[in-house]
Amino acid sequence: MSLIPLFMLLQLHLVCARPLFPLPSKTSNEEKKTLQTFRPYNIAHRGSNGEIPEETSAAYLRAIEEGADFIESDILATKDGALICFHDVTLDDTTDIAKHKEFADRRRTYEVEWFNVTGWFVVDFTLAELKTLKVKQRYPFRDQQYNGMYSIITFEEFISIALDAGRTVGIYPEIKDPVFINKHVKWAGGKKFEDKFVDTLLKYGYKVRTQDTNQSYWEITSDDYLAYISNYVVGLGPWKDTIVPVARNYLMSPSDLVARAHAHNLQVHPYTYRNENQFLHFNFHADPYAEYDFWLNTVGVDGLFTDFAGTLHRYQELTSPHPKDETANSLLVKIVEMITAYEGH
Ligand SMILES: *[C@@H]1O[C@H](CO)[C@@H](O)[C@H](O)[C@H]1NC(C)=O
Ligand SMILES: *[C@@H]1O[C@H](CO)[C@@H](O)[C@H](O)[C@H]1NC(C)=O
Repeated sequence: MSLIPLFMLLQLHLVCARPLFPLPSKTSNEEKKTLQTFRPYNIAHRGSNGEIPEETSAAYLRAIEEGADFIESDILATKDGALICFHDVTLDDTTDIAKHKEFADRRRTYEVEWFNVTGWFVVDFTLAELKTLKVKQRYPFRDQQYNGMYSIITFEEFISIALDAGRTVGIYPEIKDPVFINKHVKWAGGKKFEDKFVDTLLKYGYKVRTQDTNQSYWEITSDDYLAYISNYVVGLGPWKDTIVPVARNYLMSPSDLVARAHAHNLQVHPYTYRNENQFLHFNFHADPYAEYDFWLNTVGVDGLFTDFAGTLHRYQELTSPHPKDETANSLLVKIVEMITAYEGH
């Protein structure tokens, strides 16, 4: 199974050069605080989907408010070729599609990556049709109060949310199931899903380097492959259990993947960190801070995909806070010196 997907090759930063295309952003880039680089990245997995239904504008806005450095999204395509933020190829688990009688006859069975899947597929709906649906929370044990409130958003709307943030917020988009999408969705001029994805990023001034990854985990994590990809990618995003294997819900000895990636000057951003006890291995005693401590301080990763950007932010602010404002800090030092001098007399 190719479990290290395309997004490992697509860490994107806003380019400083003025983009050729007018941005929808309301704030100018010059006055924005830049992306922090002094500590590992807080990457909001599908937005703050621990709190708000995944990949909605509200989930992304919450993540930004909570301090995420990057917002992550899965990209799929609609019947009419629009790129949207959505994780599953079917709408069943995270929307109210089942309540829409007008779409009852749209259920299908398709082969998706070697499995037959039955449901309402995004590729059978136009963007306008999808916009009539509402997104809901994936897990029953999470807050259900936002179900039915938010729509599916487009890739461009996602980009606008990042660009409109009051500080620089990176984006971390992943294209999903390109073979399946290209089979069901056709674009003018013979363009492929991957082309539309890259075109969209370029339009908004993002630098893009991309490559098809159709290799197995073992091929992708071999030293030869790491050396090869280090020429054009920033890092890899493996599932965390592949870095530190798990048995009977306890961590085993870490593999050498992080050390080998670092030796090739590649960052490692594992996924997915979740607060709930059903996702935490027993070593962490039901404490998400203990998990962050282990991955940041023992394993030494460079970024983490979390469902709870606010929790990771709070942990990082406690353990490696943003440097205090220089002027305020030096003023404080002066005051302390004055008091000390006064007391000395
Ligand atoms: C999916 O179903 C079709 C029709 O029943 C069948 O021909 C095909 O082999 C199935 N594919 C898989 C991967 O099970
Ligand atoms: C990926 O590999 C599979 C199996 O080798 C092949 O059927 C498929 O066409 C490949 N996809 C791409 C995008 O190269």
